[in-house]
Amino acid sequence: MTTVAPARSSAAAAHAPVVDVKTVAEIATQPPEYRVAVEKIVVSHAVNELHGAQVFDEPAIRLAPTPYAKWLTCRVAMEEYHHHVRFKGLADELGIAPERLDPAVKKPLSIFEFDLRTWAEFCVIKAVADYAEVLQVEDLLHCSFHPLRNLARLTMPEEKFHAKFGRDFCQELVDAGRGDEVQAALERYMPITPAFFGAAGSKNNEMFRRFGLKQRSNEEMRADFLVRVTELVEKDLGLKMPALPALPAVH
Ligand SMILES: [Fe+2]
Ligand SMILES: [Fe+2]
Repeated sequence: MTTVAPARSSAAAAHAPVVDVKTVAEIATQPPEYRVAVEKIVVSHAVNELHGAQVFDEPAIRLAPTPYAKWLTCRVAMEEYHHHVRFKGLADELGIAPERLDPAVKKPLSIFEFDLRTWAEFCVIKAVADYAEVLQVEDLLHCSFHPLRNLARLTMPEEKFHAKFGRDFCQELVDAGRGDEVQAALERYMPITPAFFGAAGSKNNEMFRRFGLKQRSNEEMRADFLVRVTELVEKDLGLKMPALPALPAVH
């Protein structure tokens, strides 16, 4: 049985009532577009959690400077692989073909094209990109598709821990007089981060909000992200926010 839930936003209200879908089986009661939207979100998370763990978190164990930092980085890498395993589990339940979850087939997000070289860069990636991920997961906490909502609720505390891990180790470097390394990492990494949230006016995002799968527009999320990261860089770390490129165009 499905129940009609209150609309999540004025944008959603303008289209149709948002329906709560409590199980994978119940998705059959929805229009085909609902399944398409759910699959897009699940595939994206499954692919990007796996690829991120492969190109950033696992290699960072070698970059971590102390046994304590290595241990904590192992924990982060383990959790990122686990996020993939969880999303892959949901993908399997939905009957999504395994090859659609292969980063070699489905292109990962551009933030993972960064060539990770230093410990400071990894700390910045966690502080910044995992905070961006916190915002993304936050949007799924009240998602109309309950299996995805439940996954988001399991994942959220770990993503918050990853962002805090990054902030704490950035702070440690700054306190040790190595703020220039963090600043250099910010200069290299920050310019590619606004694209993480997708294009302004995105058709996918409009579809996600229409079905109550997401709550905010890409632009709103990006704006929240930039306010918080600027505060982190300038107020907390006492560094300089790098100049950022123009936002991606509508596609
Ligand atoms: Fe993750
Ligand atoms: Fe993470």
